[in-house]
Amino acid sequence: MAKAKVKSIGTAVPAKILSNFDLEKMVETSNEWIVERTGIHQRHIAAHGQTTSDLSAEATLRALDAAGVSPADVDLIIVATITPDMQLPATACLVQDKIGAKKAWGFDMSIACSGFLYAMQVGAQFIQSGAHKNVVVIGVDVMSSIIDYTDRQTCIIFGDGGGAAVITATESDDEVGFIDFIHEVDGSGGEFLCLPAGGSKLPTSHETVDKRLHFVHQEGKVVFKYATRKMPELCSRLLERNGLTGEDVDVFIPHQANLRIITSACERLKMPIERVVINIDEFGNTTAGTLPLAIESAIAKGQLKKGDLVLFATVGAGFSAGAMLMRWGF
Ligand code: COA
Repeated sequence: MAKAKVKSIGTAVPAKILSNFDLEKMVETSNEWIVERTGIHQRHIAAHGQTTSDLSAEATLRALDAAGVSPADVDLIIVATITPDMQLPATACLVQDKIGAKKAWGFDMSIACSGFLYAMQVGAQFIQSGAHKNVVVIGVDVMSSIIDYTDRQTCIIFGDGGGAAVITATESDDEVGFIDFIHEVDGSGGEFLCLPAGGSKLPTSHETVDKRLHFVHQEGKVVFKYATRKMPELCSRLLERNGLTGEDVDVFIPHQANLRIITSACERLKMPIERVVINIDEFGNTTAGTLPLAIESAIAKGQLKKGDLVLFATVGAGFSAGAMLMRWGF
């Protein structure tokens, strides 16, 4: 079986920034409260008409360029998002057309904040099976399209943006690549973080619009409890079954949901904070976009280098969660 690795990363965020001070003018909140409770200082927000496929195409072209792979050589495009341009067609089809990946097939994955990690896992399987040479995995969300900017508990958290990874086979003498993963869902938590209307359960009607049911509904405390318990639990199980501890990990890249969730996970994992990638202050929670943005931040800061043992972790709506171990590929 071939071994898969991440060959390159590209990211894209909208130019417009929404700061905590901007939010102070929109809802009853304060910069101090947001920073203290979440660690977020600002988030990027899409311009009117700027879509998930636009940001995905931008990020993908950057990633392909960095990998030295032509769009014509892409075999498969997987887009992890909960904010597709439209319910149909799949955003992967729109990205395929925008980047001119003539021979690629593709599909979307809807698993919220766990999207990018799950999509990387799926993408890696196509390399490991030998079916494909170049897989593009995208994690992008335009959360501002489904956020209620009158709901102060929710609107302060989310931002727009994300990135793409090119996944290929490793060279035969390369010690890098995907190692192991544990992914888990618990649908009994579905109601605590959901978008109630617009699906087959509650099709769009005047009533659903009037009741503001097309926006994200979140019970923050419940989500917070799940996240602080599940993230370290999955990481510990994954490390243990690979004969490792938090001490062996060079770089920990967690989903950027809330700084307090990240620091709590680090304490439980005994993970020194200098090994943790944190950029939530700059981007907020971009749902499927946080991990590629965090990878890019880590590379830019010199925190992540070829051969590093990386532990990824995620938690989100579903509930869904995951942890993945990898020797970094470039
Ligand atoms: N500004 C000021 N006050 C706010 C506020 C805001 N933006 N949002 C809520 N409050 C108030 C509440 O109304 C409450 O007031 P009360 O005590 O008078 O009722 C108080 O602050 C505390 O609210 P609480 O909900 O207990 O805050 P919290 O510490 O749980 O923080 C979240 C709220 C949403 C930041 C936090 O629960 C959280 O991050 N949850 C996880 C969310 C998440 O990660 N989602 C994505 C998952 S991938």
